[in-house]
Formats: sequence, structure tokens, C-alpha cells
Amino acid sequence: MAKESIKMDELVAFTKRRGFIFPSSEIYGGFAAVYDYGPYGVELAKNIRETWWKAMVQNHPDIVGLDSSIFMSPKVWEASGHVGGFSDPMAECKQCHTRSRADHLLEEIDIFADEKMSDEEVGGLLRDYSQKITCPKCGQKDFADVKSFNLLVKSNLGSFTDDGNDPVYLRGETCQGIYVNFKNILDTARVKVPFGIAQIGKAFRNEITARQFIFRKREFEQMEMQYFVHPDDVTKTYEDWRQKRWDYYTNDLGLREENLQWHKHENLVFYCKNAWDIEYRFPFGFKELEGIHNRGDYDLSVHTEHSGVKLSYRDPKTNEQYTPHIVETSVGVDRTFLAILTDAYTIEKFKKTDPGGKISEESRTVLKLPRKLAPVKIAIFPLLRNKSDLVKKAKKVFAMLAEDYNCEFDDNGNVGKRYRRQDEIGTPYCVTVDFDTLEDNTVTIRDRDTMKQRRLSIDALNQYFSKNL
Ligand code: GAP
Repeated sequence: MAKESIKMDELVAFTKRRGFIFPSSEIYGGFAAVYDYGPYGVELAKNIRETWWKAMVQNHPDIVGLDSSIFMSPKVWEASGHVGGFSDPMAECKQCHTRSRADHLLEEIDIFADEKMSDEEVGGLLRDYSQKITCPKCGQKDFADVKSFNLLVKSNLGSFTDDGNDPVYLRGETCQGIYVNFKNILDTARVKVPFGIAQIGKAFRNEITARQFIFRKREFEQMEMQYFVHPDDVTKTYEDWRQKRWDYYTNDLGLREENLQWHKHENLVFYCKNAWDIEYRFPFGFKELEGIHNRGDYDLSVHTEHSGVKLSYRDPKTNEQYTPHIVETSVGVDRTFLAILTDAYTIEKFKKTDPGGKISEESRTVLKLPRKLAPVKIAIFPLLRNKSDLVKKAKKVFAMLAEDYNCEFDDNGNVGKRYRRQDEIGTPYCVTVDFDTLEDNTVTIRDRDTMKQRRLSIDALNQYFSKNL
């Protein structure tokens, strides 16, 4: 199935029906741009995090991990420039008072606002194209002046609540926790430039456009790595990381190359010297999946300036003291999740032969996930649920395999229905315990992609799965 033909609505309904993603607070009517991961979603998200961590930390002796807190001193966000400059241009519909991102309204008619434009200039563009731009909620074409809207989410903490004047912020990006720990890591982790610090964690933004499912959430999760290098090496290191991150998507995650493309930022945000996105072909078109940024010495310099603590590096061999430059790779767990689902979601036709030899054409929905990402690795069935010998034996097989793999025991409906269910959640293997099992200790193993079945001794299962999973 061509990926363009997957509709967003279809994916949203599928992920809810199959327990991957639920709208937040649904019994209270939902909560815009916030979503919860259900039983299969949480497993897939965990596997995404583990794959990223393995690719970035485990396979790189020069990269160490960190888990900094969501709350940080508000001074961090003042120093980083987020309190003053982390904002989106918003346009309010005069009819229904819905606020929309002005740049997104323009993008829908293929007009791209320069990131350095003032609110007045973006507002001017909106007026120029007012006949073509409609409010996504009510369809009217009349907008008030464009105003900037800060993306940082405010909160209260301890003594800050007393006068309400000094808010704390939920972090808008995880990398600030890395910069403020630069010295701690330098002093304790025996690292030498060039080296990297990687972190996975929640980030929060007051996103206004809340129409793209988990693509743009208000509470989301980032996987960020900051690589510290000598200023002379930053250009080459940047290109190396661009290549590594492309290879990660095609090799480690197995995304189809035709669904990926590069996008160079012509207008750079305040901290960036060079920025490329890896874009994925989501059901609504090519959009940013990951950003790879050359941040120069901006971050360590501003935190040095604001904190008074020198965030620099002395080369032990040359004695040269300098502020390292940073190459950043930054991607969301949620966007990776959506890209993987889009890539894997397949409706395919196949031929089925019934016991009398009659051939019919059927169709199935199957998530062709790479095995390492599949939420459930093996499903175990007793052929019949009301035969206690079969159930007992199947439970024993389950207990044995569950030691090493996330498994599911299923005795609902007939085996055909159970296969369909497991195909939909992307389970690579199904194991069925039947009457022959009780005689010769063998089971049927069915492969998700080929739908072929083979017979194997229970004693050989561990070896078989350790080779294939
Ligand atoms: N530290 C740099 C930074 O945060 P960004 O381009 O704003 O850069 C990086 O975000 C990545 O984080 C994006 O490429 C995307 O994968 C993810 N991301 C950003 N905002 C998001 C949101 N509202 N919902 C889901 N993911 C988001």
C-alpha cells in the first residue's frame, strides 16, 4: 500500500482501537494536544527509546547519559533566551476567537514566513492573502493582528507561589539540562573533547496548533544528544552526525528511504549556525522528524555569562583553553512513533485455502514493524480454550518464553482471529499449542510477514527465538 494513501483519521482510529494511543482525559471530553500511550503504545515507545539509547550511548564510548530534572532554575530559561524569544506568531479569528499559528495558516497556502519576520510583517502577509486563508475552526477569513505567544509552560513551585510573580517553567527542551551539567560531567566522567551527552525526557510547550495528533503535542518526549567539539572541528563533526542520523533511520529503525528527505533551514533560529531537518513523509506530507543543529558556542557562552561559572575546556595535551562548540541531534519519541506507525501500517490482500481446498481472497491489516520495535514479540495460544490440558501446556510455554520476551497469552476466539489480532499489533511470531503438542512436545510457529507455519519442538524454541528476534 502506498504510504500517501494512509489517512491520518485511519491511523488515529487504529491506534485507539488497538490500545496504542488514547486522547488524554477522554472521559472529560479530552484535552487538546495531550495524549496517553496505552498498553501496546507504552511498549513501542519503550523500544524506541532503547533503540535510540543503544545507537547513541551504548555504541558510542565517547557519549555519556544524563537524566536532568524537568524543573530547573528559572534563570536557565532567561539565560537561554527562551523567556524572551521562544515564541510563535499567533492570529486570532475575529469570528470564533480561535487562535492559530499565523505561519501555519500561511504554510497551508504554500507561503513560507521568514522566521526572522516581525509580528507586523507576518500580519501583513496574512492580510495580503486574506482571501485564501480561512480559520480552521469556523471557516471565516477575518483575523485580528498577529501577536507573539511564548511557548514556555509556566508552573509554580514552593516559595514561588507566594506572590505569583516568579513562575518556574516546565522545560521547553531537554538540552538545557545538559548544558548546565556540562561542568559536572567534565569533572566526573573522565571525558575528553570531543564527547557527547545524551538525554531522553519530557519537554513541554504551549503549542497552539493542536491538529496533528502526536506530531505536535504540548507534553512530549525528546531524545537529544549534544556533542562538544573544538571550534575547528565543528563543520566536519556536523556532517558526520548528519550521516549517522540518516543511517539510524534507514538501518536501526528500518524506515523506507523514499519516506525520508533532508530540509535545510535558510532562516536560522537565534542559537543556530547551521540546521538541517530529517523530514518524514507523514500522512499529512513531509514534515520535520529530527533537527540536527550546529549551535556554535552559544549555549556554553550564555550560561557562562549568566551563571558566572566558566563552562570551558582545557585540552590536557596542548593546554589550550576554549569554549567547545556544540552539534546537537534532537528528535521526539512521539514523532518517531508516528513515523514508525506510518511506515509499518499495511493493508494487504492474500490468498487463503480452506480445509476443502477452496481458495479465497482475504485482506488483513498488519503492522510490519522491525522485530526489535514490536510491542509483543511472541503470542502463545492454546488451540482450544476449553481443553485444560492445552491451556496448561500453553501457559507453561508462555512462562518459559516470558522470561526473555514480552509475550501475550491469547485464548479468545479461534486461531484465525487471534492471528489477525496479533498481525494488527505487529507481533512477529505466534505459537500454537495443539493436541499433537501433548503427544510429541512440538508447537506450530507462525511468521507475521510470510504467514508461513512450521513445527518445532518446545525445547528448540529458545534457540529459535534468540536467533530470530
Ligand atoms: N533542542 C532543540 C530543539 O528542541 P526543536 O526543533 O524545537 O529543537 C526538536 O525540537 C525535536 O523535538 C523535533 O524535531 C521533534 O521531533 C520534537 N518536537 C518538538 N516539538 C514537539 C511537539 N510539540 N510535539 C512533539 N514533538 C516535538
